[in-house]
Amino acid sequence: MTQLRHATITGTGSYLPEQVVTNSDLENMVDTTDEWIRQRTGITERRIAADDVATSDLCVHAARWAIKNANIDPLDIEMILVATVTPDTFFPSTACYVQKGIGAKNAAAMDLSAACAGFLYGLDLADGMIKSGRYNTILVIGGEVFNKIIDWNDRSTCVLFGDGAGAAIVQATDEPKGILASYIGSDGDYADIDLLGIPAGGSRMPVTSEVIAEKRDKLQMNGREVFKLGVRLMPEAAQRVLREANVSIDEIDLLIPHQANLRIIEAVGDRLGMPREKVYVNVDRYGNTSAATIIIALDEAIREGHAKPGDLLLFVTFGAGLTWGSTLLRL
Ligand code: ACO
Repeated sequence: MTQLRHATITGTGSYLPEQVVTNSDLENMVDTTDEWIRQRTGITERRIAADDVATSDLCVHAARWAIKNANIDPLDIEMILVATVTPDTFFPSTACYVQKGIGAKNAAAMDLSAACAGFLYGLDLADGMIKSGRYNTILVIGGEVFNKIIDWNDRSTCVLFGDGAGAAIVQATDEPKGILASYIGSDGDYADIDLLGIPAGGSRMPVTSEVIAEKRDKLQMNGREVFKLGVRLMPEAAQRVLREANVSIDEIDLLIPHQANLRIIEAVGDRLGMPREKVYVNVDRYGNTSAATIIIALDEAIREGHAKPGDLLLFVTFGAGLTWGSTLLRL
């Protein structure tokens, strides 16, 4: 008889740079107010990495905590997946820098690009790779240094984002726990740079001095449209895994949605019928750390006792692409 094999998270870690940028700091940089930012986004402060710090530096810190908490040796890791849209370099991959940083000599390493949905894309891949029987231990990381792709003179975007990384050790188990259902999706009809993205820096528009002068190498976003899409897509994605696992929303102990904006988080929770006290929020302190938000939140929730062994957790996200995803996890 085939043994049922599950993929579960055995350790998490996260790392936020020390430098805090408050809304009042931003008041001195662009035409904005603390009140506007808090009312429209729920954000009060965010962390910003120093000039000489790259995404892999944050990821290495987060990964070391995850390895320690999972009580494994870095040499046990067979695959490193780093979800990021702010890689150290196009190539080598950020994952290879992380591999060196943590000494995971036995691992294959690669990056994946799914914007804010990246961590759940990574979890979905790890789930499949472990269930296939080929892998036993995978390190999945979401890490971003957004401060370097933001136009700090653009008040409509610079107030929203922050830097940070989170890491999870995903391992095989025969116990009936871990990832119970996972779903990822995308719609390239929305692959519109003006909706959400960075026009320049790739093969379509290499960086030139004109591009830099026009700031086409910085993040562009239509906030209103992104807002509407997030509020529609995330509940739909969450419902999908609930249906697949035949679980009702009342059975969920904690909902961890992508931390882009408090109003989006509350709208998603309300649409799903989730009481506010069961919806995890830290966007107020870190802003939107893109691929890192959910795993930073999970690590924090575990450390603070909001997520305990045996709890049923629901993660849901969406990002540029468009991409989206949801995960149902028995911790
Ligand atoms: N301070 C003060 N005023 C501002 C600021 C600011 N920081 N930013 C924009 N404004 C102004 C605008 O210029 C506009 O002024 P106008 O009416 O004179 O033209 C006014 O505020 C309203 O602008 P809107 O864009 O309509 O404001 P809205 O209520 O939609 O809030 C926001 C903007 C916060 C960006 C919102 O649309 C939002 O959160 N959208 C989702 C964005 C998001 O989550 N992005 C993450 C992308 S990545 C991912 O996670 C998927």
